[in-house]
Amino acid sequence: MKKNLNQKLIDLIEYYNLINSNLLLSNTPQKRNLNNIVAASYKGTKFQKLEKLKKNIQLIKNCQLKKSATNLVFGDGNIDAKIMIVGEGPGAQEDAKGIPFVGRAGQLLDKMLESIQLNRTKVYISNVVNYRPPSNRRPTEMEIARYLPFLKSHIEIINPKILILLGSTALNTLIGNNEVISKARGKWIQKDVGSIRPWTIASFHPAFLLRQPDQKKMAWIDLKMVRDKLKSLRI
Ligand code: URA
Repeated sequence: MKKNLNQKLIDLIEYYNLINSNLLLSNTPQKRNLNNIVAASYKGTKFQKLEKLKKNIQLIKNCQLKKSATNLVFGDGNIDAKIMIVGEGPGAQEDAKGIPFVGRAGQLLDKMLESIQLNRTKVYISNVVNYRPPSNRRPTEMEIARYLPFLKSHIEIINPKILILLGSTALNTLIGNNEVISKARGKWIQKDVGSIRPWTIASFHPAFLLRQPDQKKMAWIDLKMVRDKLKSLRI
């Protein structure tokens, strides 16, 4: 079957990621260095690995998201947490502060966590993309493909036992494009992310719950599943 141009470009980006290289979409002379984007190549303490990962993200070239954003939004919470939460991408408040989930959706997320006795000292939070998509649009397939190796390294470095994917972007990025959030949510799977295999569950994004509060009851079911999993894993 003939692939369209977009798909070819995505495949090319994935290939470049595989060979551990930063794809530069420009003819101007650039430093074509091989960024260490595979988690196994990050050395040192967890903190040092995260700092290096952050630096590598800051080195991204020719990225529209980075160009229009104010701050890199890397992560928040406890780097030693056994639970990692992945959202979609920063919004306006997150971009202004450089911290994920600090706007209205973030406030709801904090309440949801509180309902199962969790907070940011017990979880670690990041996003599929680390710079704010303009006008809060969904990141494009190409942007997602570009940031995916960083996200995978991020997850591997944090090494959570439980991975919570909030919304369809995180679900599609890490589990697969054929998944629909309303069907895939509330199910545990063991997902390979590089060298680790966290218990993974998808749930509705808090921004969606703000628009569709009647779906909060489904999110509550998912939260209770997380609470029960924590118990059964003795976390
Ligand atoms: N929505 C997200 O997906 N991530 C954030 O950090 C904030 C809002």
